[in-house]
Amino acid sequence: MSNDTPSSNPHPQAMRAWVYTSTRGGIEKNLQLTNDAPLPFHPPLPNDAILVKVHYSSLNPADYKFPELGLAMRALVPTPASPGMDFSGVVAQLGDAVNSNFRIGDKVFGRIAPNRHGTLGEYVSARLDGCAAVPAGLSLKDASCIGTAAQTAYQCIAPNVKPGDKIFVNGGSGGTGTFGIQIAKALGCHVTATCSAKNAELCRSLGADEIIDYTTENVSQVLKAKGQVYQLVVDNVGTPTDLHRVADHFLLPDGKFVQIGGEFSVANVTTVLSRQFLPSFLGGGKRKWQYLITNNTHADLEQIAKWMSEGKVKAVIDEVFQYEDVPKAFEKLRKGRTKGKIVIESST
Ligand SMILES: NC(=O)c1ccc[n+]([C@@H]2O[C@H](COP(=O)([O-])OP(=O)(O)OC[C@H]3O[C@@H](n4cnc5c(N)ncnc54)[C@H](OP(=O)(O)O)[C@@H]3O)[C@@H](O)[C@H]2O)c1
Repeated sequence: MSNDTPSSNPHPQAMRAWVYTSTRGGIEKNLQLTNDAPLPFHPPLPNDAILVKVHYSSLNPADYKFPELGLAMRALVPTPASPGMDFSGVVAQLGDAVNSNFRIGDKVFGRIAPNRHGTLGEYVSARLDGCAAVPAGLSLKDASCIGTAAQTAYQCIAPNVKPGDKIFVNGGSGGTGTFGIQIAKALGCHVTATCSAKNAELCRSLGADEIIDYTTENVSQVLKAKGQVYQLVVDNVGTPTDLHRVADHFLLPDGKFVQIGGEFSVANVTTVLSRQFLPSFLGGGKRKWQYLITNNTHADLEQIAKWMSEGKVKAVIDEVFQYEDVPKAFEKLRKGRTKGKIVIESST
């Protein structure tokens, strides 16, 4: 079981980690648990690094999509490598130049960029932009869900809305969607979300005002029938593929379409690029469109954690897997049916 005490070994030489050298047949078939993985830095700890002993991590689709990109990704992240971006845990060491009030043993959470030493290792080396204190009233387990899903949802929504605006969240029941609905409500917006009937009650309980069942309704047609009422669309899914092309029917003239979701394929990249660059008569959309890539931001992590400690936003956790069951967690994640987040508990 995880506990919230500081590491008993503040200067480890090697660590436990789930690592892969190949992703053939899926990362979950290749992950191996080792007790002898290298630390995420060559001692001494870099000046700007925060070494965190991981207590919980949460998974994101990118944790298998990026490694499975093959050679292109291998150039950026050489193997053997450990996947995972999101973490919560306790500070084990602090770089000399870390400009924060952190102390050894403090509870922290956050997100690291994909690299060889992911959050499915015993320790991660974080930077202050991707790390924040866990406030009173927020558990380490819930805090581990914030890094990618909540931060992405926040960055899609917060800069683009004001209280009273209507927002459409395509895909309300997954990791990004469950946070997105709640963040939009915390910012005073009216929320329409898509989900399947089995997840409608979940999305309503998180604050969604209107639900569109994507399994029985034509999402684009339903939205078109509403007229130009939305200030923002956040697309966590990437389908229906005509959603941006017809968005001028339901987005206000100064409204914005922010996309994060979609499959990593040549066809999808082509569609995405056409949205950005083609005029509407050649298949591009008429409304402003952005593909958002999550950018670790300390202030955003702090704001989300504050809302969570106040009870305004909560982590929806589909399942907590023990550390030994990481491959099973990836199997579940890959099915694409997760309600909220999948969490891994490290047995420290
Ligand atoms: N650009 C970035 O920086 C960034 C950051 C984070 C995530 N992403 C991407 O965003 C996407 C979503 O991430 P996530 O973490 O939310 O994934 P996730 O948690 O795995 O999403 C699963 C959820 O999606 C729902 N869903 C599946 N197909 C749907 C559809 N056609 N319409 C509506 N809902 C649907 C499923 O509900 P049902 O069971 O009812 O189908 C399930 O609840 C992924 O493609 C991910 O790679 C990108």
